[in-house]
Order: sequence, then structure tokens, then C-alpha cells
Amino acid sequence: FDFQALSGRHVCITAGPTREALDPVRYISNHSSGKMGYALAEAARDAGARVTLISGPVNLAAPDRVERVQVESALQMLDAAMATLHDCDLFIAAAAVADYRPVAVAEHKMKKGSDEIMELRLTKNPDIVASVAAADSRPFTVGFAAETRDVLQYARDKLTRKRLDLIIANDVSAEGIGFNSDENAVTLIGPNSEETLPQSSKQQLARQLINRIAEHFNEQTKA
Ligand code: C5P
Repeated sequence: FDFQALSGRHVCITAGPTREALDPVRYISNHSSGKMGYALAEAARDAGARVTLISGPVNLAAPDRVERVQVESALQMLDAAMATLHDCDLFIAAAAVADYRPVAVAEHKMKKGSDEIMELRLTKNPDIVASVAAADSRPFTVGFAAETRDVLQYARDKLTRKRLDLIIANDVSAEGIGFNSDENAVTLIGPNSEETLPQSSKQQLARQLINRIAEHFNEQTKA
């Protein structure tokens, strides 16, 4: 591990789930633990970077010497990302952002009616990492692709569609890796590269990923 790979750099990382409020007491969310994003934040810090961690609600303490910005919803996460974007050299989107949010948030707790069926109207959330990648003077941008099938194919498609510099493909259907577990195995894909990192702890994997991401980043900024 290169403890100087990112010295003098500012790395921004999104992590965890988002919560999309339905009313004052209910929300839509997902099972993201935030562990991979937090491990990446620690690894980037250990590589000498200043780190801003934009985090959805998780059960993890803020890592030492990392600036954590806590958000709830996708719209808040987008605002936080846009606010730090112009100061970031490297942006890593590890958050599991809710694809949709309720069209409206009820002001008061919704009451149970007599109907057996209740329908929710949802509207699409903005794509945070794609918004970052589309910005002027954008940072080197890295996304994740968590998939259950055709993992590499979907990941390559996202790399192009979201205009990312690198994407980390993650098979979340495999036992013992991905969502909520302590281990992971991924493939790091760039426009002309593909590298598989075998199963290990999220801490170990995060250090390997940060090393490799820093190499790609330094290569690009040199050119
Ligand atoms: O399209 P999909 O959600 O699978 O893409 C995953 C990647 O895009 C992750 O890096 C995730 O953090 C990011 N993303 C985002 N904003 C969204 C949806 C996904 O930044 N609204």
C-alpha cells in the first residue's frame, strides 16, 4: 500500500443508503450498510488524501480525520456532492441511492384507510454520480455497479452512459460478499482496462482499490 499515493489530494466519497420520506414517520430505503464506502474513505485517508465522506444514515462511526457530511435523502446527497464537487480531485460514488422518491411528502402521518390496496406515486431521483461526471472541470469520477447478473456487461454500460473514468463491478448475488457483509470481491473496469480483485475483507479490498484508482488517476492527470 502506497501511503503517499494521494497526498495533497481531496477525495469525496458518497456512502450508505438514502432515505426517502413518505410522511413524518415513514420512509423508503434499502439494506446498504455503508461499509464499503467507509472503508474506501479510510483507505483514501491512509493514502494521504483529505477526505470528505457524504454519508446516508448508517450505523458506523465517522472515521478519524475524515470530514463526514450526514444526509438523509438523495436530493440532500446531490446538494452535498454539488457543494464539494469543485474542490474535489477524485469522486467515488459508493452510495446506494434510492432510484425513486415519493412524489410528495405528507405533512402529517398517513392514516390507515379501509382500502385493501394502497398505491404510492414515486418520481425518479437525480443520478448523483452522473451529475458529477457531467459538471465542468469535473473530478476523476468512479462509480459502482452492484448487479445480480451480467455484472461486467451492465458495469461497462454504466461506465459509458454515466461518463465515468472507472467503475467497480460488484456481484451482489454471490454468498458472503456485497451488501451488508464484511467481505467483497470486485472487478475494476476502465475504458481500456479490466482487473479482478479476489474476495477479501472490505478494508483490504478498499486499500487495493484506492491504490489502483490512484494509479489510474495519476496517469490521467500526467497526460
Ligand atoms: O444505475 P445504478 O444505480 O446501478 O448505478 C450505480 C452507481 O451510480 C453507484 O456508483 C451509485 O452510487 C451511483 N448512483 C448515484 N445516484 C443515483 C443512482 C446511482 O450516484 N441516483
